Formats: sequence, structure tokens, C-alpha cells
Amino acid sequence: SLLDIVNNNNYQIDGYGACDGTVACSTCHVVLDQATFDAVNKGITEEEKDLLDMASDVEATSRLGCQVY
Ligand code: FES
Repeated sequence: SLLDIVNNNNYQIDGYGACDGTVACSTCHVVLDQATFDAVNKGITEEEKDLLDMASDVEATSRLGCQVY
């Protein structure tokens, strides 16, 4: 996942991935370009949609980074 890439490469993004991919925090929120969103949008769950509803600055191409593979 995008969260794994951040963690495995020691990128220092303050607070990113606070729940470690358990779909409980939305700190991994990312806004993708349309082509990327279309390529990875298969399999978005209701749980992810519900959490995105509570995230700030959500756009049409938003995803949770821990759920993007
Ligand atoms: Fe918490 Fe993705 S890391 S929802």
C-alpha cells in the first residue's frame, strides 16, 4: 500500500498512518490524480468511504493511502 511505501522508506510525514492501516484514523488521506484514482479505485470499501467522509479537504479522487495497492 502507499502506507507501506511511506513506512518502508522511512519518509517522515508527521502523523501519517496513525492507525497503521486498520482504517480507523484517515491520517493517510491522499488526493490522487484522476488516472491513478481510476487505476486503483477498484475495491473501495464502505468502511473507507465512511472514514473519508470525516476527513478534511476531501476531493473526488481522495483515497486512504493504507487502502491503495
Ligand atoms: Fe489509518 Fe489509513 S492509516 S486509515
